[in-house]
Amino acid sequence: MNDYLQNKNLRQLLKVLNIPIPVPPILKRNNNPYSDDELQQKKIAVAGKSSDFLHQIQQEIRILAGDATIYDAVIDGLVVSCVGMQTIEDLEDLFTNIKNTVRKIAANGRVVIVSKVDNMNPTTFAVQKSIDGFARALSKEIGGKNGITVNLLKITNEDVQPYEVVKAATFFLSDKSSFITGQVVEVNRDKGQEISSPVRLLHEQVAIVTGGARGIGAAAAKVLHREGARVIIVDVPQAKEDADRLANEIEGEAFLIDITKEDSATQLQQHILKNYGKLDILVNNAGITRDKTIAKMSIDQWRSVLNVNLKALIELTNTFLQDGFSEKAKVVSLSSISGIAGNVGQTNYSLTKAGVIGFTNSIAQNNNKKIYANAVAPGFIETKMTENLPFFVKEGGRRLSTLKQGGLPEDVAELIGFLASPLSDGINGQYIRVCGGSMLGA
Ligand SMILES: NC(=O)c1ccc[n+]([C@@H]2O[C@H](COP(=O)([O-])OP(=O)(O)OC[C@H]3O[C@@H](n4cnc5c(N)ncnc54)[C@H](O)[C@@H]3O)[C@@H](O)[C@H]2O)c1
Repeated sequence: MNDYLQNKNLRQLLKVLNIPIPVPPILKRNNNPYSDDELQQKKIAVAGKSSDFLHQIQQEIRILAGDATIYDAVIDGLVVSCVGMQTIEDLEDLFTNIKNTVRKIAANGRVVIVSKVDNMNPTTFAVQKSIDGFARALSKEIGGKNGITVNLLKITNEDVQPYEVVKAATFFLSDKSSFITGQVVEVNRDKGQEISSPVRLLHEQVAIVTGGARGIGAAAAKVLHREGARVIIVDVPQAKEDADRLANEIEGEAFLIDITKEDSATQLQQHILKNYGKLDILVNNAGITRDKTIAKMSIDQWRSVLNVNLKALIELTNTFLQDGFSEKAKVVSLSSISGIAGNVGQTNYSLTKAGVIGFTNSIAQNNNKKIYANAVAPGFIETKMTENLPFFVKEGGRRLSTLKQGGLPEDVAELIGFLASPLSDGINGQYIRVCGGSMLGA
């Protein structure tokens, strides 16, 4: 990590000299394996509009987390249910619950708001939709100084059970989601796996991570292994040294191939079928940039980015959709906030990353194996890909966000791990930004 404003001595010096540079909060991260007491050390209060749903999530969260109420002096987490709010007046309950607790939320605290779109009455629809705006605004308002995150879980399927929401909330209340804020995540799929313990959630699962030799891919491979998966790191032959070292460390396998090579998808598919029998998790992470304004961009720069980031990703996923995925396999693909906001000098890259969201959305709905597909859209992450950007571009990427800093590969990896696991069984066809509340495209 090379963000100088995270340097303790420099921060101290700025404080002593009283130099008014807004220093980013130090984020509390937990990159340990999921455990039964993931949330036990946190005092989490559950409030909101009274309903059966509220009472059920209250009961479940009481088992997972340290007990707290909105009347306590300090709380680490707050869950506010807006389920059942139908009128403009109902929204006052949201206002009151947040207003009365907002100053009590500890540094690195978590707010999870839950809403539900359950009928098409225009007023109710407007009321539930309005909560998106509230959550996003609140995330910007309270996160910058002390690393508090605010995210919204929005139920859009009548049959989603409270336990599905609580599983997803476990991640958003934990210190594994420190760099994710201001997100509206649909909980839209029912009949997920009920889990009594989050320990080794990926036990015996077979996972591929493309571009897994370094950066975000390597961090993702480690998280998947940590939770019990057998990981196949796919990367170009030039990355052999890094890929072999990591494979050794995580008792996985390195499979060296350029994913744009014509028969690479079939080669990988045959390798998995022969040696593992099936594929449970596909992380489409390999990606490149060839930045140039369009007037200066060569056709090679255009083609190479489209071929790696989109064409090969589609080809590989489709090959496993034809044969190789287990029932309810999880596909997690790397998009980018460039694909959402667009970025100067990145017409090729932004195009591919928007394409990833489109592909994800489409296969999530149209596949007969009932696989899950979700996309992850990182903002500015401190990796080799971003290391060589000009200083002011890097500074813009870091500071133009609620949390005023770049993320770490581990932040993205934890989101990938969540989306690869049964904790996210309620979530399908979504993209989730891991961007520290970046202003770009928000
Ligand atoms: N770093 C960021 O700030 C950021 C932001 C948004 C999105 N992303 C996305 O996250 C993903 C990982 O990014 P990163 O920063 O870790 O990048 P990175 O450059 O550090 O790593 C990318 C990996 O992909 C591999 N790769 C490239 N082309 C390949 C090919 N044809 N076949 C097989 N492997 C190939 C590389 O060898 C490398 O190991 C990319 O898809 C990127 O677009 C990154």
